[in-house]
Amino acid sequence: MAAPAVLIAVEAKALKRWSEALQRELPDAQVFTREATKTVVDATAKTADYAVLWRPHASLFAEQRRLKAIFNLGAGIDALAAMPEFPRAVPLIRLEDAGMAGPMAHYVLAAVLRFMLGLGRYAQDQREHRWAPKRPRAPGDVRIGVMGLGAIGRRIAHTLIDQGFNVRGYVRHARAVDGLTVFDTLAPFLDGLDVLVNALPLTAETSGILRREHLVRLADGAHLINLARGAHLVDEDLLELLDSGKLSGATLDVFREEPLPPDHPFWTHDAITVTPHVAGVTLVDESVRQVADKIRALESGAAVSGVVDWKRGY
Ligand code: GLV
Repeated sequence: MAAPAVLIAVEAKALKRWSEALQRELPDAQVFTREATKTVVDATAKTADYAVLWRPHASLFAEQRRLKAIFNLGAGIDALAAMPEFPRAVPLIRLEDAGMAGPMAHYVLAAVLRFMLGLGRYAQDQREHRWAPKRPRAPGDVRIGVMGLGAIGRRIAHTLIDQGFNVRGYVRHARAVDGLTVFDTLAPFLDGLDVLVNALPLTAETSGILRREHLVRLADGAHLINLARGAHLVDEDLLELLDSGKLSGATLDVFREEPLPPDHPFWTHDAITVTPHVAGVTLVDESVRQVADKIRALESGAAVSGVVDWKRGY
């Protein structure tokens, strides 16, 4: 194969790590770098065959006009989808699992166990020196719904099933997923769930999907876990449902604005656990291996998975 030119565009402090890792995987490639935040268009910049990037400034696309494919160093492509300058004629390929799904499943399992065992309630009781034991529910009595059954959602669902939880899944177009009851309509999926886990891609259709109208269908005292995107959730609706006692808590890893602004009410709400977008961080070695395999496949004329379908939105 002719040596492809591959551009890495990530935050400045990560450029070296990513480019060295990619060069190791693709020894013959010409790997070069550009800071993702750079705003100036350099007309003399080397042209790349492939760009491997995370949240670049639009100037990158004015500079790179011969790309054969673009690799997004994350699962969610919503930030690129929102850029009018993004060249939609160039195939955009997102990460699929790449080591992210396992940690995300652990994050969900931790939140579910905390809910099932009432650990949040006991932390509050401890602050008030209150001894108030409650019998924990058996996993089989905890109904959990996972929205989105891509590589991440499937891993979450199977991890929960392995622990004996009563799990169902939701996808827009029903398809069989091993060992899982799958719904393609929201109302029957949501009805009576004790825990709702959101692992959907953010699209025009799913934006605001975690809103009052849908969340009221959950069981009384249900818990919400969001580890997809902040814009899936209507913040005010969550606060209202927590304060009315309809929901008992929420574990949130993603927010409409990140970092979460210091005066946001989520920070101080007793029933909300906030984590700083850490459930599924991109892992360099796994991601680079996946990207390198796909570059090799594309160079040999083979098709690859993970190509974004713009009509579908992910
Ligand atoms: C992170 O949020 C990702 O989309 O991979």
